[in-house]
Amino acid sequence: MISFQLNGVTVTTDVPEDTPLLWVIREHFRLTGAKFGCGMGLCGACTMHFNGSAVRTCVLPISAVADGEITTIEGLGQAQSLHIVQQAWITHNVPQCGYCQPGQIMSASALLSANPNPTDEDIDSFMSGNVCRCGTYPRIKQAIHAAAE
Ligand code: FES
Repeated sequence: MISFQLNGVTVTTDVPEDTPLLWVIREHFRLTGAKFGCGMGLCGACTMHFNGSAVRTCVLPISAVADGEITTIEGLGQAQSLHIVQQAWITHNVPQCGYCQPGQIMSASALLSANPNPTDEDIDSFMSGNVCRCGTYPRIKQAIHAAAE
């Protein structure tokens, strides 16, 4: 049995220890905001926060997060009080197809927690692991700068 904090609530699961966190969150806890893209830690669609840092959950075994804190896109803000990055995403109409956007937002919010006023180069570097097939990168950058203000 593995326990951890999921969006501020203590949860337990008895899935095999090598089960990727992404599957536990999507299949067991039915939080489907984080997406499966590559399954190899390369695209960022599955990004969540583990103890405040952005992680690729398709390659993170559930055993690695025991007693840790996991935040998903569902727990980042509330319907009545969105996270500043979520609000900036709306204001700047960032998504196109939307598939990668939960992961983009989780990475962007982790970036701003670590670096409240990132340069273009900081954004390019930090966000380089989050791929967007629609090419929304200019709007992502605008929204991150707006959220930093
Ligand atoms: Fe996890 Fe692509 S699905 S990085």
